[in-house]
Amino acid sequence: MSRSYNFAAGPATLPTGVLETVQKELLDYQGTGTSLMEMSHRGKIFDAVYQKAVSDLRRIAGIPERFDILFMTGGASTQFALIPLNLSGSNRKAGYINTGAWSKKAIEQAKIQKVNVHEVASSADSNFNYIPDSFDIVDGLDYIHMTSNNTIFGTQFQKLPDPGGTKLVIDMSSDFLSKPIDWTHIGMAYAGTQKNAGPSGLTVVVIDKDYYDREREDTPTIFRYSTFAKNDSMYNTPPTFQIYVFGLVLEWLDSMGGLKGIQQHNESKAALIYDVIDSMPEFFLGHARKDSRSLMNITWNFPDKELDPVFLKGADEKRMPGLKGHRSVGGLRASVYNAMPKEGCQALADYMQAFAGEHKK
Ligand SMILES: Cc1ncc(COP(=O)(O)O)c(C=O)c1O
Repeated sequence: MSRSYNFAAGPATLPTGVLETVQKELLDYQGTGTSLMEMSHRGKIFDAVYQKAVSDLRRIAGIPERFDILFMTGGASTQFALIPLNLSGSNRKAGYINTGAWSKKAIEQAKIQKVNVHEVASSADSNFNYIPDSFDIVDGLDYIHMTSNNTIFGTQFQKLPDPGGTKLVIDMSSDFLSKPIDWTHIGMAYAGTQKNAGPSGLTVVVIDKDYYDREREDTPTIFRYSTFAKNDSMYNTPPTFQIYVFGLVLEWLDSMGGLKGIQQHNESKAALIYDVIDSMPEFFLGHARKDSRSLMNITWNFPDKELDPVFLKGADEKRMPGLKGHRSVGGLRASVYNAMPKEGCQALADYMQAFAGEHKK
């Protein structure tokens, strides 16, 4: 069996070794005669899987003790709604950095809840092709929300902004665990696991323990972060299978040298593709400004839209699916998350070169 190089934006490629372990253990988890999927979340066996995932995540991502780690469901989209509900208390004044479609969705959810949204920075003026570098931070904000990597546009914060006295709440959905994280200015970070860290269905939330007293009184129990914190994320049935796979991905991350190791790996992978783009900038029209480029999602257009389907067809024939760009940018997008091997990026870079040789005027 040969696996394709899957460049999809998410759900995305997983390390082959992780899938092999899942396959091996699927029917009979470590000699128990039962699949982990069939076991109670309150039993000893799943508890060990859960505890290990939490402690491995804390160690690998260097998460300080002031944070709780919660395992939730509903994806980042649910967090867009829960953040104002839980963190904006009675003050209802929050900052949002607008760097694209996902930031806008987060803003919408705050506005629905009558939060006074202060857009502290935006790159809307140029179809979100850059990360703003100046911020209009006002006093009295409950938090400043930002999207660390913009999956659709292919831009990424190269370093976290200094939010003044306010803490950052960060949607890390598409660059979670792809490089070391500086927790100094962070109040909360969250990510669906389906891009860098596992299958869809699990949302990891890392939250400052000081935040729980901001919850609004009329917040239903299941929508409170404090409920998940008090109950080890088991107030209701958690996504047990996803937590198990997430744990395996963490073990794989260890084998890659942790977050420093994976960062180097990701930099060298993305460079292979950006080098081709930079060698023919009149043919590969990169969407992101160079200083804002993402290591996770690489976006470009061809001078002629008609080339898009031709490129995609050739890529499919070479078993490289998932390269179609999002409609708001058009063109192509290569998602090269942690688990994309370097050989996959090399294969794509070679194909891009060959395609240019054939179609560049
Ligand atoms: C940066 C970012 N935020 C939020 C989302 C939405 O995530 P979900 O579908 O898990 O709700 C996505 C999905 O692609 C994303 O890339």
